[in-house]
Amino acid sequence: EGGTTATGGAGTQAADLGLVQNGTLTVCSDVPYPPFEIESPDAPSGYSGFDMDLMQAIADGLGLRMTVQDVGFDPLQSGAVLAAGQCDLGASAMTITDERKQHLDFSMPYYDSLQSLLVPADSGITSIDDLVGKTVGVQQGTTGEIYAKEHLPKGANPPQAFPSDGELWPALQAGNIAAILQDLPVNLEHARSDPAYEVVEQYETDEQYGFAFAKGEKTALLNAVNEQLQALRDDGTYDEIYARYFAM
Ligand code: ARG
Repeated sequence: EGGTTATGGAGTQAADLGLVQNGTLTVCSDVPYPPFEIESPDAPSGYSGFDMDLMQAIADGLGLRMTVQDVGFDPLQSGAVLAAGQCDLGASAMTITDERKQHLDFSMPYYDSLQSLLVPADSGITSIDDLVGKTVGVQQGTTGEIYAKEHLPKGANPPQAFPSDGELWPALQAGNIAAILQDLPVNLEHARSDPAYEVVEQYETDEQYGFAFAKGEKTALLNAVNEQLQALRDDGTYDEIYARYFAM
């Protein structure tokens, strides 16, 4: 207690962390993805949500300002954006997968998730097997897209991939797709916002979200972020942020 650690607090040497911009944590994300990433003009970074609030607390702990770039999910999960050095890290409800670990480094897991099916409540669809002759929407490059490709019944149309939830969710509301297959908390958020829709199935995919870094290039920052994450878990801040967005 009381000492300055190599990576924590106001003693942080920005240069040591290899930041894109001195004194600033430059965060890449894909917005909207409620309740993880939400545009919020009143928030210091302009964004709120579980990921954004958690990352803001991490930036605060590191004595850094946080700025967010909305770059889209697929180029973020592919590693392209981070390899190009556009951001220090990705915070985007990104599932840690073996495939992604080939080209990205991940923080310690910070959220457990699973897949789910969202449909119009009056559609009569109660399971993925009811999608024969129908089209399910997914977000491009996501674990939901992979799950849909692997589990759609014979006779279902190929999943239709949308670049962002900002197009996916309106497509369901417009009746252009029959269902959305994606992360449970996001589908639940949509169902909560519009009772004409409901989550009818959950798939136990055992996913964990991690913050993503260009592979092999941000080790000091990754360690500093993990240290902050652990501190936020220990001092109750993680739970406080969690309670803002999820029923306990
Ligand atoms: N967890 C899923 C994945 O990693 C979906 C994440 C989408 N995130 C977002 N901010 N749009 O593939």
